[in-house]
This record gives sequence, C-alpha cells and structure tokens, in this order.
Amino acid sequence: MNEIILDARNLVTEIHQRRGWLRVVDDVSFNVGRGEIVGLVGESGCGKSMTAFSLMQLFPTPAARVASGQIIFENRDLLKLAPNELRRVRGAQIAMIFQDPATFLDPLMTLGDQIAEPLRAHNFAGDVRARTRDLVEQMGLPDPDLIARRYPHQVSGGQKQRALIASAMSCAPKLLIADEPTTALDVTVQAQILDLMRDLRAQTGAAILLITHDLGVIAEMCDRVYVMYAGKIVEANTTRELFRAPRHPYTQGLLRSTVSLESATTELFAIPGTVPNLNELPRGCRFAPRCPIANAQCAHEPPFVADETRAVACWNVERAMASEIWKLDVGR
Ligand SMILES: Nc1ncnc2c1ncn2[C@@H]1O[C@H](COP(=O)(O)OP(=O)(O)O)[C@@H](O)[C@H]1O
Ligand code: SF4
Ligand SMILES: [Mg+2]
Repeated sequence: MNEIILDARNLVTEIHQRRGWLRVVDDVSFNVGRGEIVGLVGESGCGKSMTAFSLMQLFPTPAARVASGQIIFENRDLLKLAPNELRRVRGAQIAMIFQDPATFLDPLMTLGDQIAEPLRAHNFAGDVRARTRDLVEQMGLPDPDLIARRYPHQVSGGQKQRALIASAMSCAPKLLIADEPTTALDVTVQAQILDLMRDLRAQTGAAILLITHDLGVIAEMCDRVYVMYAGKIVEANTTRELFRAPRHPYTQGLLRSTVSLESATTELFAIPGTVPNLNELPRGCRFAPRCPIANAQCAHEPPFVADETRAVACWNVERAMASEIWKLDVGR
C-alpha cells in the first residue's frame, strides 16, 4: 500500500447524556493512504458520522468529545494541535462534505461566494475569481459564470452537491471526507456525483474517506473498506477481497441485503433485528443478538481483533465462511 496520510488509532468518542458518557465510537482504528478511496460502511446509527466528525473535531452537538486515541495526519496528531493550528488544517488540508448539501449552503449567499469562502478563509494567494470559475468548471457545472451568481434555491440538488464539493476542493485538500454524499440524491444524479469524485481523485490525487450505508457505492468507488457495527470496526479488507470472501457474519448479512441489479432474486433480504442501543450493549459480541451462529462464547467475550488492515472481529470466522449462514434464516 502507498504512504499513509491519515492514521486513526484507538479512537474513542463519547456523547454526554443524562446517564453519563456514552461511547459512540469505541476504540476504532483505521487508515487512509495517499490518493486512496477508503470506505466506511454500516447501518444507520453505527457511529460512521461521529467517526468523521471526530477526525475534524467538529461535532453537531456540544455534548460530544474525543475521549482518547490518536489521529495522525501527515505525521502530526490532530488531537494535540492548538485550535488555530487545527483551523488551518480544516477546510484546507482536510475537507468534508455531507449528505444534505442544502443544510450546509447559506441560502442568502451565491454559490460562487460559497465556493470561494474557504479560499478567502485560508488567504488564497492567487486570483480567487479565476480559481472559483475553474472549480465550477471542473465540477461539470454548465455555464460557470451564471452558476456562480445563482443562489442555492435556484439550482437542483445535484448542482448543490457539486457546489459543495467545489467548495470542499477549493483549497486542494489532501483528504476529502464524504459522509453519505449521494444518499439524498436520485439514482442517476448519484452516479454522476460518484463519477465526479472518482475524477477528482484522479486529477488532484486527493484521498477520500467515503462513508455510506450502501455496499453498492463501496463496490463502485473504494480501494479498501472498513465495516462498522455499533461503534466498532468489525471487518477490514480490500474491496475486492471483502466482496469475494466476506468473513464477518455482519458483512455477509449486509452483502446479502444489498440489491444487485443482476441478481434474479425477488425476495428482499434484511438482517433481522436492529443495531443495539449503545446504553444496553451485549456483554460479548455486539452482533450476537442478531447473529445466526452466535454461541456461548460470543455472548460472554467480546471478539478480539488481531491486526488493522485485514481484521475481522469474530470468534467463528471459519464457520461463518464455510456455510451460507444467512440462508439458515430464510423463512424464519
Ligand atoms: N447530535 C447527536 N446527539 C446525541 N447523540 C447523537 C447525535 N448524533 C449521533 N448520536 C448518537 O451517536 C451514535 C452514532 O450515530 P452516527 O455517528 O450518526 O451513526 P451513523 O452515521 O453510522 O448513522 C448513535 O447512537 C446516535 O444516537
Ligand atoms: S463473534 Fe459470534 S456472535 Fe459475533 S459475529 Fe462472530 S459468530 Fe456472530
Ligand atoms: Mg451518518
């Protein structure tokens, strides 16, 4: 693998609640190589967004904090930076885009001004207008001058997301964190935005941490993937290997519930049950209440993760890989 630019180690993030601190990201380790597209996938509520916010140390709630761990970005621990140093990294070297562009665009500012905002904030040395025009063009938006003068309500959802990506890319970040960037868009626009992100990686060499609940998006985009469940990484691998031979029962279930256009099956599979409440986590494996091959050990001992890049946190990997365990559930 190429040089690692982001290395999150043993990250723990908590949210303060009435009953005390709740661990929403629990001892999570992952890394991203230079120019690599790495996926973070899991059902809703697994802690993917909180992981992303932790990297930026910008949370949607003041009750959240990174409690421990390291976030090594280009050989510096972001958790040890002074606030002004961190501000210089955010938006310039690491940028982030989100599911719903509308909430992150100011309705009273033109798209051009919003695209240029990071340039101004980080004292861009060149011609801001020319750079903005180039960005708009690079995003595949028609008529750059006209689009730059438009307000968010005057453009489509896909164009809003392109503008947000332009703004994120304006300072040529080395890492783009994209949290469900296409979830709110219809299928055709989704594919176009994914294409755009792939092109940007090729043109700029920016690495992308792509967060999604959709394994289809992972298959399209990612070099490697981390699977997250209830605040923990349960499996990591190259995308090719993960799809060829998923080892964790959760990954196997997610794959089975991913609708494939080629498959002839009409029956839609869903993993039974729901992500556990973080206040009432099972003592052993967090997936045990939903796992078709859970045994007594699973109920009592949390499975151990040996290494980070090809990890799997399961006591019964051989059993999981030997039989099609989710077939056992058909008709249940
Ligand atoms: N603003 C918030 N206030 C309180 N709890 C939150 C907030 N955002 C997320 N959480 C909690 O953190 C956990 C992880 O959520 P999140 O990271 O948003 O999951 P995902 O992005 O995988 O859907 C969930 O249990 C959720 O309830
Ligand atoms: S450790 Fe046990 S319960 Fe957890 S995924 Fe593996 S087999 Fe299932
Ligand atoms: Mg999320």
